[in-house]
Order: sequence, then C-alpha cells, then structure tokens
Amino acid sequence: MLSAVTNIFVAIFQRLVIWGESLWALVLLIGLGLKALFEGKVAAFFLQPLTQRRVFAVLRAFVPNISLKRQVMKAYENTGTAVVTRRSDVLDVLNRNADFEVVYGPRMRKLTAGENFFLGMQPGWDYTRDTSAMRLAARMTDVAEIVQPRAAELAQTIVENSGGKIDIVPTLTLEVPWDMTATYFGVGGERRQMQEWTTNLFWYLFQDLGADPQLDAIAMGQASQLRDYLDGAIAERKANPTTTPDILNRCLELQSADTPGMSDLGIRNNLLGLLIGAIPTISKASCLALDELLNRPDALASAQQAARADKDDLFAQHVWEALRFNPFNPVIYRRATRDTTVAPSTFRGMKVRKGQIVFAANFSACFDRLDIKSPNSFKTDRPWEDYIIWGYGMHECFGATINKAVIPTILKPLLKQKNLRRAPGTEGQIDTGTSNFPQHFHLEFDV
Ligand code: HEM
Repeated sequence: MLSAVTNIFVAIFQRLVIWGESLWALVLLIGLGLKALFEGKVAAFFLQPLTQRRVFAVLRAFVPNISLKRQVMKAYENTGTAVVTRRSDVLDVLNRNADFEVVYGPRMRKLTAGENFFLGMQPGWDYTRDTSAMRLAARMTDVAEIVQPRAAELAQTIVENSGGKIDIVPTLTLEVPWDMTATYFGVGGERRQMQEWTTNLFWYLFQDLGADPQLDAIAMGQASQLRDYLDGAIAERKANPTTTPDILNRCLELQSADTPGMSDLGIRNNLLGLLIGAIPTISKASCLALDELLNRPDALASAQQAARADKDDLFAQHVWEALRFNPFNPVIYRRATRDTTVAPSTFRGMKVRKGQIVFAANFSACFDRLDIKSPNSFKTDRPWEDYIIWGYGMHECFGATINKAVIPTILKPLLKQKNLRRAPGTEGQIDTGTSNFPQHFHLEFDV
C-alpha cells in the first residue's frame, strides 16, 4: 500500500519535472528562434541537435504523437506524415513490421537495376535468405579477429604520422572504413571513388527527403559504376582465387555450396548494400562523437583519461553518450501498411492512415525521462539498451558489431593526444560541403 502511494507521488513529481523542463525548452526555442529569424539563420537553427532536442522535449510533454495530411517525404510514395516521439511508441513502431513497413525498396531496386536489398524488405523468405547468407559471410567473430586489430593499427599509424595537425575526414574517419571494405569485404575499389559513390548513394537512399532530381541523376550514374566495379571484382576473384578470409571469398564459398541467394548477381547486390551502409556512416558517426566531446571539456577530459588508461569499455561509453546527444540520424521512418493506431487506449493514442510515413524519433526516445534516467546528463554508466544509435528491431544495423568496435578504435589514438583541440576558425568545425556528410574536420594536438 505504502509503495503504491509512493509510486503515485513519484509519477506526479516526474510529470511536473517533464512539464517544467519542456516549458523552459519552449521559452528558449521561441527566444532563440526569433533571434535566428532576424539573423536569417532559421534552417541552421533547426538543424542543431540541441534545438531538435528541445523541440522533441516540448512534443513529448504536450503532443507526443502528431498526424498530418501534408507529405513531407517526396522520395517514397506516401499519403501524409506522422511523428512519434515517446520512447515506448518509437520502439513499438519499429517492432510492428506488419503495420509499419520499410520504404526503401523502389530506390534500392534502382541502385541494383533490378532486385531489392534486404534493408528494403519486409519479413519473409527473401529477407531471411539474404540476411542468413550474409551473416555467414560476415561473421561476428571476424570483428575481434580481423576488423578491429587492423583498424587499430591503421588509426594509430595515421595519427602518429599526422605531426599534430590532421584533417580527420579524408585522413582517418573515411580511410579506416574504406580500408575495411578493401581488406575485409574484399571490394574496396579505388579509394576516393568508393568513398564518393557510397556517400552519395547513402544520401540518395535515406536522406533525400525532397527527391532532388540532380541527386537522382548523380546516383544513377554512380550506382551503375559501382555495379560494374562489383561485377568485375567478383569475376576477377573467381578467375584468380585467393584464400583471404574476406566477405567476398565467403560468399563464393557459399555459392559453391549452392546456398540460395548467392548467385553472382545476389552477391553483387548484397555487397552493394553493405558498402553503402559502411563507409559514410562510420565516418560521420566518428566525427559527430568527437565534435560533441570537443564541446564538453569535462567529458573530453574524462574520455581522454579512459583512452590513455586503455579502459576501452569506459572510453566507448563516452562515444555512445556523445552520439546520444549528437546522433547520426534523429529519426527512422516507416510507412503504415494499413489504417492502425499508435499507443492505443492511451490519452496520446493516434490513428495512422494507410500510406502515412511515420517518423519514429529515436533521438527523442533517448531523452524520454519516463524511461531514461537523468536524460539530460552526460553519463558514462548507461545500459546499452538506453541507446538507439543504429536502428532497432528487425532492421537494426547489420554492421552493429563492427560499429561498436571500429568507431571507438578510430577515435582512441586521437583522444590519447595531449591538448587535443579544434583547428582555429571554421576549419575546426565539421565541414559537410554540399554532401550532407562530413568532408573536412581539422584538429590539432601537441607533439
Ligand atoms: C555508425 C555507423 C552506422 C550507422 C549510424 C548505421 C545506421 C543504420 C540504421 C539507422 C539502420 C536501420 C535503418 C532502418 O531501420 O530503417 C541500419 C541498418 C543497416 N545497416 Fe547500418 N549503420 C552504420 C554502419 C553500418 C555498417 C558498417 C554496415 C555494413 C557492414 C551497415 C549496414 C547496414 C545494413 C545492411 C542494414 C540493414 C539491416 C537489415 O535490414 O536487417 N551499417 N544502419
């Protein structure tokens, strides 16, 4: 009885804190938003993670689920837009594959000039066939045995050779994942070309909400080049076999055993999807985590201490927490397959129409005070379950084990350096150029 009463008081107190916090966030949004308006910087203001975090705080407190007739997404067919911000609803949407489908199929097919890739598939035989085969080819145990040691050696050498001044994007954060595709995937191609292709194709598939015709033309040209490169690489490996334990050789072994989905074309399409997922993502996430740490002197000092003491788990916790505040993607989207309801039988329950795109706000979910302890504090002792850094549910990132090992490995040798700092001026800020992905980020340290 006593605990029931205590729970009621705790729940009321929690709601009051949430309302207080969100009202304050609203005041700040109005004040800073007006300032940005007068300065003509509204777009930049809303792109800032801190602004988005405040918007989500207000939504979670007052209108956690929103349904609009307006079509925000132009790249994939839809009948309108919905936004879901509470953690339990975000996870629910990403779990209900029958109600909320992935939309990427049409553009995936344009990139392969035919078949879908498994991120664009609903549950079923095709998805099971391709993910099962590719998980046999890209084994979890490879990460500790092959991928991480190589990344560690390369990152260490790059930082050592930098002489205390480094543009980390071309030199380090793109280089290490590209090297992984060359040595472990077995299909790295020409370095700069592969980095450019995969960056543009990732943008085309996942972030081109406005359906830019110019990007479409670039993507079609580069996808064709990537297909030609992969067809050539597979033919070349078959003509000149090697014994390297890489993904391409494993796929060819599966082909020899008549494994479904492992025809030359199947291998090519699966490698194409993996390549697009691997290079720009690891690079951008590494930059965002570092950027966040550089904005937080205490967290930076603590991360550096952990790196220098080789406390790898603690160091990684700093990276995940930095990515919670500065995430790779603030939302994951799905499309309703039929009329349905989010959060049924609650005050926030929302009807979703068939065809509506649902933005499940993973960024918001990671700051929901109802489920996340001290959400606004930078903490390095959170359970892994608090994070939604690379998706959730059936389509959670195929590269999750790689990401968990490689991103901290890229950053660790940098963080070990003395007086690590941004280069002066704009050079010391992430420069995304026109691509939406980091192109340059200059840092300095004492040698
Ligand atoms: C920090 C780096 C990465 C981030 C932030 C990231 C992000 C994501 C996200 C958010 C999803 C889910 C998309 C959705 O549900 O709509 C996803 C899925 C996927 N990712 Fe990653 N990714 C990263 C690295 C990688 C790497 C290294 C690979 C390749 C080895 C990869 C391959 C894939 C694939 C194939 C899927 C689809 C999984 C499925 O449908 O079952 N990603 N990723």
